[in-house]
Amino acid sequence: MIEGTPVVEISDLRRTYLGPGGESTHALSGVDLSVYAGELLAIVGPSGSGKSTLLQLIGCLDSPTSGSIFLRGRDVGSLQEKEKVIFRRDHIGFVFQAFYLVPSMTVLENVALSSIIRDESAVQWRSGALELLQRLGLEGTAERFPHQLSGGQKQRVAVARALFSKPEILLADEPTGNLDAANSDAVLQLIRSAVNRDTGAAGVLVTHDFHAASFADRVIAVHDGKLVDELILAREALGVGGDSEHVERVRTWMASVSL
Ligand SMILES: Nc1ncnc2c1ncn2[C@@H]1O[C@H](COP(=O)(O)OP(=O)(O)OP(=O)(O)O)[C@@H](O)[C@H]1O
Ligand SMILES: [Mg+2]
Repeated sequence: MIEGTPVVEISDLRRTYLGPGGESTHALSGVDLSVYAGELLAIVGPSGSGKSTLLQLIGCLDSPTSGSIFLRGRDVGSLQEKEKVIFRRDHIGFVFQAFYLVPSMTVLENVALSSIIRDESAVQWRSGALELLQRLGLEGTAERFPHQLSGGQKQRVAVARALFSKPEILLADEPTGNLDAANSDAVLQLIRSAVNRDTGAAGVLVTHDFHAASFADRVIAVHDGKLVDELILAREALGVGGDSEHVERVRTWMASVSL
């Protein structure tokens, strides 16, 4: 197990959704999980297994039915809605499965959203936002609006926005789902440069792709709302993923847990 400070500490977490006819779906049924400073954790599992539900709970976008979530030692399950908004703003970067870019803002403004919300002037955020766009091969799109982008370009803007404020907790729901191999690697390398022992940030990456999962330090498999298996890739040297040995280990392991 990776040593150090848990940034995310989850215990016996459950989330039950109630349907319109009163039927219940147990999206998460008793999850225990810690994510440590500097660690990138990948979550894999079939569609409907509870991955997004888990990420949304860690991201303070939803409340658990029962169980606890501590982030940086703070019990966020009990926070009021307003406190959650502030906690999210100050500590969490979230890449949504559905992007959620602001349609009336340019690409550059979308990336710098957290600064714009704080009323900072363009002088304070422009160069940082442009640099992120450049690292993702998007420098030519800075002044466009989201509707003028391809799906893969929108996805990269969503990643840039999540990384822009250098969050201590980075949560990404299939951030490479719409990308070709080269752009997928650019996104994963950028995530890795934000989540490692030097930055001390913790990251959780949901993916269906063994190549993406191989950038993580640890991979967990979710099935029917439970954690069913775990693969540890990096015991000491956090941040070593992405090479062919890791890709092969993850591929074999995912095949063995039939994912
Ligand atoms: N708002 C909701 N209301 C009711 N049921 C929901 C809701 N959100 C998710 N569910 C159900 O909870 C279960 C887990 O959903 P979740 O979105 O977490 O799956 P997932 O693992 O992210 O799937 P995918 O890989 O398709 O994104 C599914 O059965 C889903 O239908
Ligand atoms: Mg999902």
